[in-house]
Amino acid sequence: MKILTVVGARPNFMKAAPIIAAINEHNERISANGVGRGERSAQAIRHNLIHTGQHYDEFMSGSFFSDLNLPKPAVHLGVGSGSHAVQTAEIMKKFEEVLLTERPEVVVVVGDVNSTLACALVAAKISFDSAGSRPVIAHVEAGLRSFDQSMPEEINRILTDHVSDLLFVTEESGLQNLQNEGISPDKIHFVGNTMIDSLLTFKEKAETSTILDKLKLHANAGDNGDGKAICRYALLTLHRPSNVDNRSAFLNILDGLEELAADWPIVFPIHPRTRRRVQEFGLQSQLGLNGDEAKPDTAKSGRNFRNIILTEPLSYLDFLCLMKHAALVVTDSGGIQEETTCLGIPCVTVRESTERPITIERGTNVLAGTQKEKIRGAVRRQMTRKFCGQRAPEKWDGQAARRIVAALIRTHLESLSQQSLVPAIQRTLAIRK
Ligand code: UD1
Repeated sequence: MKILTVVGARPNFMKAAPIIAAINEHNERISANGVGRGERSAQAIRHNLIHTGQHYDEFMSGSFFSDLNLPKPAVHLGVGSGSHAVQTAEIMKKFEEVLLTERPEVVVVVGDVNSTLACALVAAKISFDSAGSRPVIAHVEAGLRSFDQSMPEEINRILTDHVSDLLFVTEESGLQNLQNEGISPDKIHFVGNTMIDSLLTFKEKAETSTILDKLKLHANAGDNGDGKAICRYALLTLHRPSNVDNRSAFLNILDGLEELAADWPIVFPIHPRTRRRVQEFGLQSQLGLNGDEAKPDTAKSGRNFRNIILTEPLSYLDFLCLMKHAALVVTDSGGIQEETTCLGIPCVTVRESTERPITIERGTNVLAGTQKEKIRGAVRRQMTRKFCGQRAPEKWDGQAARRIVAALIRTHLESLSQQSLVPAIQRTLAIRK
């Protein structure tokens, strides 16, 4: 069986890495044990990683490959930034060529970014032969719904799910959503969360990060480096277009965090989109950004938001270390809501909706909306909360990727047995349109 896994943007890398690790594990088992007679499941999987290049900076992409032990992509499409239409179209054009050359039996897409939808669409419409066979499309993190179609990710989620053949779901709400949309239960597999697989794999290694020292977050660290108590700090991420592309919306959120900033330092790794808006809106001095420089100064303070510590976007291990030790996380990201739930860290989500309701049910996450009064109230409540001995959501146990690879092998075997019954109709795992 040949699988192509697609990554493109920052939140894809930690979701794809465990799947590649599980494929390698499968292959190592086979080379150690050999292939027994009649043991068709024990065939090695051929795998290639495809990077669309939606994200391209070292700190949005490159550093994740080393932190997560990802292999070098077999193909890099190098599409870069653009409008939604341009970016999606460029990925589609280039990915079609890759598919026709590689002719995989499975295409794995993860998450909800433009690369996810673009590659799923290409795979759904490709024809490898006169019978119209095409690869199986496996969507990892299927079924999540914010019910807000003004979010580009919601469009990507819905469309990707509806052209996929195997839908790997992270939480119960996903099962329900897919059933409500009429997707056949045969296609749906509740496997858990591969992003949490990565978190559990790298949680200890994140302790080797020196980011707390770099940002001077050790309360009593003396000159000789002893006394390593960590001070109470909050961690902030903001990059949703609806939050940062409009000056008054953005300022309103920052105002909502003023009280918090008066009590605790707020570490704010700034996304390139957000950094660009800070410059456009003339907020550099308030936020301690240096003029038109490409990179914000670390730990430089501004006039109005004195306690905000701006950094570049961080590597996976540095960010995980900061998240683990934060007293509070404020975010508009999807994945961070889940990671804080797993770590038992109080989180305030500055959005009107979430596609990850399990994080609210578990109590670690509150949905504050985007109005300053509501943000202030939610922050006040969450500042005093602690979640010790938090029970992880069902199947967030580090085994999701292994379940996915097992399901892919199972599907492959089923297709092979069908093929032996009707060889003219189905070629390997490829699906007939
Ligand atoms: C994308 C995803 C979003 C995800 C986010 C994580 C879509 C629709 N959105 O949003 O779901 O949460 O990634 O970061 O796919 N830029 C750089 N360097 C880079 C990449 C981007 O400077 O390596 C800048 C460019 O100016 C670009 C802007 O960031 O125009 C936005 O990048 P883009 O990929 O369009 O969307 P994100 O906001 O990152």
